[in-house]
Amino acid sequence: MRKDENLKQKDARVKGRLVVFEGGHGSGKTTQAKMLVKYLQSNGIRTHYTKEPYGSDLIPLINNYSNGDLLDSPVLMYLLAASRCIHVKDIKSWIAQGEFVICDRYVLSSFVYQQIQGIPLNVIKRVNSFAIKPHITFYVDVPLKARLERLCRTHKNRENFFLEDDKLTREQNLYNGLTNNWDERRYGRVTVINGEASPTEVHKNIVNCFVAETKQRF
Ligand code: TYD
Repeated sequence: MRKDENLKQKDARVKGRLVVFEGGHGSGKTTQAKMLVKYLQSNGIRTHYTKEPYGSDLIPLINNYSNGDLLDSPVLMYLLAASRCIHVKDIKSWIAQGEFVICDRYVLSSFVYQQIQGIPLNVIKRVNSFAIKPHITFYVDVPLKARLERLCRTHKNRENFFLEDDKLTREQNLYNGLTNNWDERRYGRVTVINGEASPTEVHKNIVNCFVAETKQRF
């Protein structure tokens, strides 16, 4: 039986689930998240794409405190947590309606970026303690050198604080360290995906992992 048929057949029994995509800038996580959304929808599974930071009222504030003179790490951490709090409410309601929720960035992003800004991990974890556990987190891993090449092509103007070279190195180290010592019981399973191949190849790999997880757990 083909994998697609396998998924379709299970659809009747599938309940909503939270699936997270994480990865550094230039890793292709957004492309992969959207490809998985299309794949699930084309298999008849109700799927909702969403991303963090979340919320049209908070995003302008988050942008203000992310860069330039106003940059303020604790303010940013709390704003992002507030945005996630609102997001979690909506995620719960989508899941309750039986939808798969594919979420682009979640708590792991806070663990990485707010640590880059000097906030201790235990504080970030405490502030985000309300966050619900995802069923799977795909971490799209691409070596720093390849990400830098991609970013040079796509982000000619790298003004974002987190796109400075030293921050990108720190980002890579933190993602690797955190995913290697992941608290699966609290934060759900993390699956590391090699994101260096073509988008189609990476997508195939994600679908295979997704189907394996689906069979195993749903
Ligand atoms: P975005 O424009 O969505 O970047 P990308 O498409 O690369 O994900 O902006 C997200 C930015 O916000 C990114 O630079 C990381 C930062 N961020 C945090 O600092 N903490 C968080 O918890 C989240 C979700 C994002």
